[in-house]
Amino acid sequence: MGRKFFVGGNWKCNGTTEDVKKIVNTLNEGQVPSPDVVDVVVSPPFVFLTLVKSLLKSDFQIAAQNCWVKKGGAFTGEVSAEMLVNLGVPWVILGHSERRALLKESNEVSSYSVTDRVSNWADVVIAYEPVWAIGTGKVASPAQAQEVHAELRKWLETNVSAEVAATTRIIYGGSVTGASCNELGSQTDVDGFLVGGASLKPEFIDIIKAAEVKKSA
Ligand code: PGA
Repeated sequence: MGRKFFVGGNWKCNGTTEDVKKIVNTLNEGQVPSPDVVDVVVSPPFVFLTLVKSLLKSDFQIAAQNCWVKKGGAFTGEVSAEMLVNLGVPWVILGHSERRALLKESNEVSSYSVTDRVSNWADVVIAYEPVWAIGTGKVASPAQAQEVHAELRKWLETNVSAEVAATTRIIYGGSVTGASCNELGSQTDVDGFLVGGASLKPEFIDIIKAAEVKKSA
């Protein structure tokens, strides 16, 4: 069974209401492969989730950029997974290296969120993002990405199961652009991308189209 291509757009802490409307417009009008071929999941800042959900075509999905590790309660400034579900937000990015480096989020906090909330591996997408490639314009070579993705898949096989290893999507992130996406995406164990800077630009459409290149390879 083939793994469906997955393209995430991590908008990080960017944008105004007007910017968000423009990005959504570009997506809605873009000629992209159907949801049968690619999962496209954009991740706006919390404050824009409802707006984006209301404007975005149903071909696309949305993700939050983080969530609280426990149920709701007296945790000022946090947003719980239940709130995201309640809002109709099916995905969340957990353990991004910017949160680890800038907010001192630990492995324990990130993995607690996963093990506590997720009981089904089919709901999990793993992103490999070399820190030196994030936001630097330095993208991993296709061979480097393939090598690490293959190792991650092997880890899944050893530590979880052969089935989970074969079916879990492992996506690459770090300075992915329209120019680098096709070759990266064609690697056997690269199942898509987590895109930061370029997800705010029209070239995000080209990156989504890498799913077609992969399919026809
Ligand atoms: P970048 O960010 O594409 O701007 O390097 C990727 C990410 O941090 O998810």
